[in-house]
This record gives sequence, C-alpha cells and structure tokens, in this order.
Amino acid sequence: MAGGIIMNQSGGKEYPGKMTLFVFFACLVASSGGLIFGYDIGISGGVTSMDSFLSKFFPSVYRKEKEVVTTNQYCKFDSQLLTLFTSSLYLAALIASFFASAVTRVFGRKWSMFAGGITFLVGAAINGAAENVFMLILGRILLGIGVGFANQSVPVYLSEMAPAKLRGMLNIGFQLMITIGIFAANLINYGTSKIAGGWGWRVSLGLAAVPAAIITVGSLILPDTPNSLIERGHDEKAQTMLSKIRGTTDIRDEYDDLVAASEESKTVKHPWRNITEKKYRAQLTMAILIPFFQQLTGINVIMFYAPVLFKTIGFADDASLVSAVITGLVNMFATFVSIISADKAGRRFLFLQGGTQMLICQIIVGTLIGIQFGTSGVATISRGYAVCIVFFICVYVAGFAWSWGPLGWLVPSEIFPLEIRSAGQSINVSVNMFFTFVIGQAFLTLLCHLKFGLFYFFGGWVLIMTVFIALFLPETKNVPIEEMVLVWKRHWFWGNFIANEDVHVGGNKV
Ligand code: BGC
Repeated sequence: MAGGIIMNQSGGKEYPGKMTLFVFFACLVASSGGLIFGYDIGISGGVTSMDSFLSKFFPSVYRKEKEVVTTNQYCKFDSQLLTLFTSSLYLAALIASFFASAVTRVFGRKWSMFAGGITFLVGAAINGAAENVFMLILGRILLGIGVGFANQSVPVYLSEMAPAKLRGMLNIGFQLMITIGIFAANLINYGTSKIAGGWGWRVSLGLAAVPAAIITVGSLILPDTPNSLIERGHDEKAQTMLSKIRGTTDIRDEYDDLVAASEESKTVKHPWRNITEKKYRAQLTMAILIPFFQQLTGINVIMFYAPVLFKTIGFADDASLVSAVITGLVNMFATFVSIISADKAGRRFLFLQGGTQMLICQIIVGTLIGIQFGTSGVATISRGYAVCIVFFICVYVAGFAWSWGPLGWLVPSEIFPLEIRSAGQSINVSVNMFFTFVIGQAFLTLLCHLKFGLFYFFGGWVLIMTVFIALFLPETKNVPIEEMVLVWKRHWFWGNFIANEDVHVGGNKV
C-alpha cells in the first residue's frame, strides 16, 4: 500500500505527484482574493488626504487641518475621526471572519471566496457613489465583510490544494497579490489626486470593483479542495479532483490520509470548543500570536501612512507620494524572495533572517530621525539625509515582505488539523484585523507621544517575536498538511501537550 512513498528531510511522507498546470491556475485565481485586501490597505491613506474628500465628508477635520499651524512634526496629523474611517473596515472584517468559518466548513472554501468577492463588489460601488457619510461607512462595512471572507478562505484553499513540497510557494501567491493590490492602489491615488474636478477620490474608491470582480468571477470557476470535498461527504469527486491536481492516479496514500483526517474531524462537533483543548494548545497559541506579532512589526505604519511619514521628515507632497510608490515596489518585489525560498530554506530561516533585518533597520531609522528632530520635533533636514531614511525604511519593508508578511498567512493556514482548520483560520484573521485596527487607530497618537521612539517600540516587539520563533515554532516546510501533528509532537515544548493516542495519521496511531 505504501506505493511510491518516501520520507522527506523533515520526516514527513512525500506523496507521488507533481505540480500540474491545473493546480497552478487554480491557485493563481484563488490568490487574487489577496488583491481586494491589498487594494484597500493601499487606497484609504491617499483618499483621506485628498482635500475634496475631506471637505465633503469630514469638514471639521478639513478645517482643523487647514487651521492648525504647528511646527512640531510628530503631532501634525493627529485626527481620530479620520483614522476611524480607515480602520472601521478591519472591525467589520474581524466579525465577518467568524461567519466565514462556518461557510468555509459547511459549503466549502470556494463559496466563502465568492461571498467575499460579491460583498466587496457592492461595497466598492456604494463607496464610489457615496453622497454622505452613511453611504461611506456602509460601503466600508461591506468591504470589510468581503475581506473577512476572502482572508478566511483563500489561504486555507491554497494550502490544501498545493503539493506539500510547494505549499509555501503557492500559498505566498496570496501575499504577492496583497502587495500588488497595495502598489496598484498607490499608483491610482497618485493619478487621481491630480484630477482637477475634485472627484478623484470616487475613482480611487470605485476602482476597488476591479479586483472584486476578478475574485468573484474567479471563484465561480474554481474547483473545491479534496480536503473540503471529503469533509462534506463527496468522496468520489474528491478522488477525481486529487488525481487531477496531482497529475497522477497514484493518489491512494494521500487520499487515505485525507479520509483519516476527515474521520477524525467528524468526531468534533464544536470546533470552537475543541480548539481550546490541551492537545491543540500549540496551534491555538500560533493562531493568536503570529497575526499579533505580524502587526506589531509596525508594517502598517508604513503601508497606511507612508506619505504622512515622508511629509513628516520633510518631503514635499509629490515627493512623499513618490516615496510611497517606491516602498510599494520594494514590498512587491521582495515577496518573490520568499516565493522561491520558503520551501527550500524553510519558514524558520526566513522568520529569523527577516526579523533581524527589520530590527536593525528600525534602530537605524529611529536614531536617524531622533538625531535630527530630537524630542521637540522641529527641524529641517537635508535631502540626502531624508533619502537615507527612506533607504533604510525600504530595507525594513523588504525584510517584512519575505518573512512576517507571507508567513503570517502561510503558517497559520498549514498547522491546523482539518477539524479545527476553519475555526483556527478565523482566529488568525480576526486577531490580525483587530491589531491592524489598533495600530491604524493609534499610530498618529503614538507618533505624537513616542516620537522617534516609536521605531524603537516596534523594534522591541520584533526582537521578542524573533526569539519566540527561535524557541517555539517548529519547521513546517515540505510536511503534508494532514501530517502536521507529527511536527508538533516532536517539538521539545509542544510535544508535552500531545498524548500519544492523540496522534492519528493515515488512520494509524503513532
Ligand atoms: C499584512 C498586512 C500588510 C501587508 C503588507 C500583509 O501580510 O497582513 O497588514 O499591510 O502584508 O504587504
């Protein structure tokens, strides 16, 4: 029965089969779910700095911004109402991901993606046509629901479709699409901010319909994953699909493992209660801490506020928008490093290397800003000096783009056993969204109070998370997804939480 099975370096099985064109395209289409998330991250900052948008929807903020003449660069942009507009979406996404968990489990991954796409589409239309704050907020909530559904289902879909040894590469397609979405949004804002009639913001917000249409239509043609088909009782379809995506009929062993995982999962009636059991402690800890740490790298300070930050260090309007475009490009291209290395060098290596790089850059940027602006926040700095700061910010962004960015979505999607996978992914999404919200909301105030120390603050967190990874995250590259429990069982710390009889792989206890 062991067919062509071999063990790989990580001690997991290696199933027969190769990467087929079919699986490649299925993953490409599904990854486009990342576009809607990325587009949104990149678009709001620019829109909320457009005068025509502010004077129409937030006249008080607009007046205040025009009136306030402060020389303290750190405190120039502090406005809670406006940041609430940006970050409200993340609250909606947080709540939606819990509903998405049930849809993903009961109806399959594909319908969850569809639900995400179509809700986002409606939200984009309402936002583009907004006449009052109510329409604006309603649109934001729908966009948030869309993101909640897509981020819940896409990473799980990708990890289930991919052959184990290419799972990193295919899953990171999602992060790549996020970065493409951010970059496209930066460019679009740059163009629409120059539209004279004052309706540029409508174009920016309305164009969100494009990525939404891509994932909505795309999800309709996507096949569901064998794991989900078995979970929902479609055994034959699952076999056909597995052999189609692996490009071989020699799928017995992988199929048996999937069935065993599904049998196991049927004994779990309440994933939300079960996930708190001792044997899942490792996975639960990761589902909470990985997204928490990802946001505590401080990356969204750059993604949301790059133009503001660059204005703070003295760039003119146009130059700061251009710098934001540059960081967007770096973010996108650096993602390829993880695409090619996550399955070879491994997740741990990237986490540790990327974390160290980010930490060094944060110390340098904080110090460079501190030297010039001190605590008073008053200074004019030379162009060369500002360029130097932007350079180190780019190196920091690159470090994130090949570590915590993609791995923050990849690792949580591959570590859960089937029975709690959807629930686990919801926790991941909602923790991520919650802290995206918190940082989005608190950044301007933090900058005003911590000043250049803000970079040290995030640097401190990066140090903590890097040590955490070194001690507590086992390597998951190349391990078949339904065998992941073996990895936890072998870990020096987490192994203590898992009893021998809790380890079922391919129907056998180990
Ligand atoms: C994070 C986002 C971030 C983006 C930057 C994603 O992995 O979840 O919060 O804005 O990466 O590329």
